[in-house]
Amino acid sequence: MKIHGRAMRTIWPDADQTSVHVIDQIKLPHRFETKHLRTSAEAADAILTMVVRGAPLIGATAAYGYAFAMREDPSDANLDAAYKRLYETRPTAVNLRWALDDLRKRLKPLSPSERFAAAWLRAGQICDEDVEICRKIGEAGLALIRAAQKPNQTINILTHCNAGWLACVDWGTALAPIYMAHDAGLPVHVWVDETRPRNQGASLTAYELGAHGIPHTVIPDNTGGHLMQHGMVDLCIVGTDRTTARGDVCNKIGTYLKALAAHANDVPFYVALPHTTIDWTIDDGVKEIPIEERSAREVTHMTGRLEDGSLATVDIMAPGSKAINYAFDVTPAHLVTALITDRGVCAATREGLAGLFPERA
Ligand code: MRU
Repeated sequence: MKIHGRAMRTIWPDADQTSVHVIDQIKLPHRFETKHLRTSAEAADAILTMVVRGAPLIGATAAYGYAFAMREDPSDANLDAAYKRLYETRPTAVNLRWALDDLRKRLKPLSPSERFAAAWLRAGQICDEDVEICRKIGEAGLALIRAAQKPNQTINILTHCNAGWLACVDWGTALAPIYMAHDAGLPVHVWVDETRPRNQGASLTAYELGAHGIPHTVIPDNTGGHLMQHGMVDLCIVGTDRTTARGDVCNKIGTYLKALAAHANDVPFYVALPHTTIDWTIDDGVKEIPIEERSAREVTHMTGRLEDGSLATVDIMAPGSKAINYAFDVTPAHLVTALITDRGVCAATREGLAGLFPERA
């Protein structure tokens, strides 16, 4: 996608194979800055502190982090130690495990001297593959948006958190069909959940959509139900950080409430996902997906821009009150109208997923 007219990805390697560049998502939307990652520790820290975030981008960054680790120490012992260090950065998004497993499987049979080059090559392939996967999700979802169009009316789509190109390498998952619909001339308007506590909707999704010229309106997280009751949402499209074999989806906290509201108001609720977010080892998302708990400070404090342009962090809580910060929740499959994958659209059921991915069933 384009930033200031220039085509960009969220992560790109240096030609001399010493570092990767990423967009510093903590600074958006107020400042566009990039960061250089040169070591496995810097890659792990970028994931942990959410300089990079979003399930596919976490996986891509971890792949480069693993490559750095193989340059630092390509021994068998570090193959395991670096895996563990990177894996522990964020527990919910399964793309992280997917990318590390993919690399470890390829690197283990190689001699230590061959490991860095092989890891670097594969990390680049993972990024390229992610772009193609998201493009295919966009094409599959575009058909659903077209089908939702009523003659001469704007198509109102609600989304939660940021499942756009900033969460991936390019295109995005939930936003890819929206970009394609807009580019195809369909009149789309997006309701953007602000997505407390870190406000990825207000800061990142709104930034992306604005940069692409897509009409959108940011809403407080608790507004979606009201809009749905009043016929102001035609469909919801969200992303997922982990999808179980039977179609339960785990996404940013608050997604479940939107799915309940959509169900109660007969609004289609679609979840867009690359196959890399399917965890074929589990079924029951509520019981089996580890939910990341982040610092309460993300709830008690907010960062924004002052009128003089400087950034400031302020405390918004009554002194002495406790806060808790579960980062994700699980939406059971029965609340999901359909899954939009890189192999097409399917029911959020074991049979639906198995039909598209027979090799994994
Ligand atoms: O905590 P984050 O910002 O990494 O959470 C991101 C989301 O929940 C996205 O919706 C998700 O990764 C979906 S896939 C792009």
